Amino acid sequence: MSDLQFFLYLLPFVLALSWTLNFLKRKNPLPNLPPGNKGLPFIGETIGYLKPHPATTIGKFMEQHIARFGKIYKANLFGEPTIVSADAGLNRFIFQNEGKLFESSYPSSIGGILGKWSMLVLVGDLHRDMRNISLNFLSHSRLKAHLIREVESHALLVFETWQENCSFSAQDEAKKFTFNVMAKQILSLNHGEAETEQLKKEYINFMKGVVSAPVNLPGSPYRRALKSRTAILDFIEMKMEEKIKKKKMMNDGSEQKEEDDLLGWVLKYSSLSTEQILDLILSLLFAGHETSSVSIALAIFFLEGSPSAVEQLREEHLMIARAKQQLGEKELNWEDYKKMEFTQCVINETLRLGNVVRFLHRKALKDVRYKGYDIPCGWKVLPVIAAVHLDSAHYDHPHLFNPWRWHQNGNNRGGISSSATNSNPTIGHNFMPFGGGQRLCPGSELAKLEMAIFIHHLVLKFQWKIADKDQAFVYPFVEFPKGLPIEVQRLSFGL
Ligand code: HEM
Ligand SMILES: *[C@@H]1O[C@H](CO)[C@@H](O)[C@H](O)[C@H]1NC(C)=O
Ligand SMILES: *[C@@H]1O[C@H](CO)[C@@H](O)[C@H](O)[C@H]1NC(C)=O
Ligand SMILES: *[C@@H]1O[C@H](CO)[C@@H](O)[C@H](O)[C@H]1NC(C)=O
Repeated sequence: MSDLQFFLYLLPFVLALSWTLNFLKRKNPLPNLPPGNKGLPFIGETIGYLKPHPATTIGKFMEQHIARFGKIYKANLFGEPTIVSADAGLNRFIFQNEGKLFESSYPSSIGGILGKWSMLVLVGDLHRDMRNISLNFLSHSRLKAHLIREVESHALLVFETWQENCSFSAQDEAKKFTFNVMAKQILSLNHGEAETEQLKKEYINFMKGVVSAPVNLPGSPYRRALKSRTAILDFIEMKMEEKIKKKKMMNDGSEQKEEDDLLGWVLKYSSLSTEQILDLILSLLFAGHETSSVSIALAIFFLEGSPSAVEQLREEHLMIARAKQQLGEKELNWEDYKKMEFTQCVINETLRLGNVVRFLHRKALKDVRYKGYDIPCGWKVLPVIAAVHLDSAHYDHPHLFNPWRWHQNGNNRGGISSSATNSNPTIGHNFMPFGGGQRLCPGSELAKLEMAIFIHHLVLKFQWKIADKDQAFVYPFVEFPKGLPIEVQRLSFGL
């Protein structure tokens, strides 16, 4: 027997022995991976996973995989072995263990376009510091004292331009509104000014790249978006230099005005580098206007199909407006906002059914065991929040727009049978449109405020109908392909 033959003869025994030793050494013997396909190498099942589908559904891919494997399954997505979770409990567990068992892990193309210092891709201390800035900036007290007025004045500017009986894109109008709110808050840019419009144009190119395939070739949307990114950053940097110059010019004796846009705030209170500030501003502009504008478009869409909800909204907002009229007040304040109870039901229902953010990107930092399944260290984990919101185990008739399901007292107007009212006490528990834990969206209160104020003036000033059939799709960014064309007529309540 030659050495080689001897070696080959022994090999199975050696392997068996090392395998056995390994087996004994491991705390968890064989990982019990969730069921699922491996898919093609590299591309895997990504194409199927990302295939466009209506926003109020989870799509064929999810449906088929859940039917076949259950709510937790493995797949090969974005070039990596991945656990997909449509399970409310696991999603919550992931959010609660951010930084401990899991951490944010967005594809590198997102970092390429939003920047390596963008909050979405940052982890650890730097994430915490930037998050703190955003939280301070979007705090409850600022919303109450300052942002509510800004939001209302920008809503009114948009409604002023609406023409009767001619079709226009509701989605574009909502984008104008939320973009102008953010541009004012972040950079003190005023509505309608040339530089605001210029920034908006660059921004639209930028967005097209964010939603496109990350192919960095001449002429590709991704390449053009990277160019727009540079233009936007140059613009922000110019604003930054302006601010610093202004500050220097002020005499030490003169009273210094409190900086009230985010850029001024960051320059004054943080020790971030210029590069970091630029990425922070850019990603706030991105996170702060796409999502809330699409949510507003979705509300316009769902409400058009639910006349009884519009009627009840009108009642609620007329009551608020008439009370203000008697007091001689004009601008909405926090007390008015707090009275918008049914509106909050409409907002929650819109977020539940429309699911502007479908799923999040995470990875396991350790071997994790959940409900008997093993999630190996280093694997990607995708909590699919949309799948929970559209799950009949959690919401009766999940595909129906039914704002009354959110009524705390279960009182049920609008003529929907009481079986559609959701008496499930865990309803709030499984509702995670803003994510959760240490990455819970810091803009959630602003987003709801924007939706409520927009709805207030919408239902009091207009009735509307869809001018050309349209439906929100997941591309995977949620969008109305035709822009949601609507036609409006003015209403007059003598206000
Ligand atoms: C309806 C509107 C909105 C929805 C559905 C939404 C949803 C979300 C979700 C799900 C996350 C978590 C991402 C993750 O964990 O990986 C998030 C994060 C974030 N959102 Fe929002 N958002 C909305 C509006 C806003 C607004 C108006 C702002 C800012 C003005 C904003 C700023 C942010 C920021 C900065 C983060 C990153 C937080 C972090 O990483 O700690 N969002 N958002
Ligand atoms: C967050 O910001 C506040 C206000 O600027 C500051 O007092 C606090 O120390 C910051 N916290 C952290 C963890 O940086
Ligand atoms: C729009 O159409 C309605 C109903 O057809 C009509 O009453 C109204 O006068 C029209 N408004 C304008 C500005 O044309
Ligand atoms: C809407 O959802 C939030 C959770 O995001 C919950 O705290 C709130 O009570 C809900 N509002 C209504 C009216 O049910």
